[in-house]
Amino acid sequence: MLLALDKRGSLYDQIARAIRVEILEGRIAAGSKLPSTRTLAIALGVSRKSVLQAYDLLCAEELAIAREGSGTRVGKVGSSTRISTRTRMVPTSLYALRARSLPSITLAGAHISCRPIYDLHYGEPLVDPALFHSWRRKLAAAALRAGPTYPLAGGYLPLRRAIAEYLGRRRGIVCDAADILVVGGTQQALTLIERVLLNPGDDVVVEDPHYQLTLHSLLAHGARVTSVRTDAEGLVVQELPRRETRLLLVTPSHQFPSGVAMTLTRRLELLRWAARTGSWIFEDDYDTEFHSRARPLPALRSLDLADRVLYVGTFSKSLFPSLRLGFIVCPKSLRDDLYRAKLLDDIGSATMEQAALGAFIQSGMFEKHLRKSAKELVNRRRAIVAALQRLAGSHVEIGPHDAGMHFIVWFRHLAFDRLDAFIERARSLGLGLYPVHPYYRTRPTRPGLLVGYAGLSVSQLRTAVELFARCLESE
Ligand SMILES: Cc1ncc(COP(=O)(O)O)c(C=O)c1O
Repeated sequence: MLLALDKRGSLYDQIARAIRVEILEGRIAAGSKLPSTRTLAIALGVSRKSVLQAYDLLCAEELAIAREGSGTRVGKVGSSTRISTRTRMVPTSLYALRARSLPSITLAGAHISCRPIYDLHYGEPLVDPALFHSWRRKLAAAALRAGPTYPLAGGYLPLRRAIAEYLGRRRGIVCDAADILVVGGTQQALTLIERVLLNPGDDVVVEDPHYQLTLHSLLAHGARVTSVRTDAEGLVVQELPRRETRLLLVTPSHQFPSGVAMTLTRRLELLRWAARTGSWIFEDDYDTEFHSRARPLPALRSLDLADRVLYVGTFSKSLFPSLRLGFIVCPKSLRDDLYRAKLLDDIGSATMEQAALGAFIQSGMFEKHLRKSAKELVNRRRAIVAALQRLAGSHVEIGPHDAGMHFIVWFRHLAFDRLDAFIERARSLGLGLYPVHPYYRTRPTRPGLLVGYAGLSVSQLRTAVELFARCLESE
């Protein structure tokens, strides 16, 4: 018997695993005798004890039987259990096949190895240590209050009330707790909305440019996705299809990633289009809390008299993305279907985090945190924009940058075919840069970068721009 050990885990585990594969794949017949522990130990160059432990494990799994005086034999493995462990499982659903065909994206920061020191990656949260102290206290208190029973599918009631009041105060949205469905972030909001509104093949429109993960979710679901361009006033509403579109995804308060705020005229045109064609609108309001203006423009939902807008909010930007909490303000006619979809998907979001978040909002700490973060983000934004204008102003054009945690930098002279080498050179200096064209369905005429600045301090941002300028000089 030739055994190849895989060097994973303890020795006896490796020996047992190797023999298990031989038995399951039928290379050692039922009833045949396994080598004596001494012989196998010598052959493998291991201690006899390791082989003994491996045999014990196989006997406990009933794959082998030890008999006093006659050694250890292979147990009876029926033909139905004889399987090839080398056979690959092939996903058979159309969903899995569609999902496989999409380029892979990972947002999980912890898994990105060798990150550059000055990483201008979009999606990095602004980390405020004070927030985590208060959050820890709220979580500890919530642990006592939340209780062990299953959550309500719609969400923890005090949190839904707190969200409804917050939206009334800050986004001009009139709703009550029953209209709020708590979900696992924007991504789950979209999955549930797809289940309730879309059959495979249904028409969906996204903005060009757009947020890739929502597009991927739509494509995996089987939607027929087209895109409509955006300009300096936001989505070009006149170019929307004239017939019913099941769903339109928009980021009116802060177009992603261009940074444009949709004008009031366009918002009203868009709502008229939805009412006229009977289409639904997914309003992705992902980061308006951090606007430089005293008050951002009101949400589309606050102007929606026909009840066609599904307003989706997230705590990924206002708090931190690992929280995985967000919400939908549901149109009345879709509310029950959305609740049902949530119940069938995961029964309900975790109560403890919901209770902590509810208390955090209700105590006023959330809005205090928002004010503090907004101030810090303005400092960081001003620092990076000023440095870019000073050190690279003749080489780049900076896109709209009065909100959120990112903006676009367009190169004035760099050609597309130099972009990869430019990014590579920046990386060798410890600067992480990311192209913006993958977010566009129609490739822009010149290359640009999507710059996320929330994760670096003011002085780190200044150094990042100095490195950027150094790369430009060598072009
Ligand atoms: C346009 C847009 N929408 C939504 C989100 C947040 O998604 P989630 O709530 O699933 O974390 C992001 C995060 O980067 C985003 O860029």
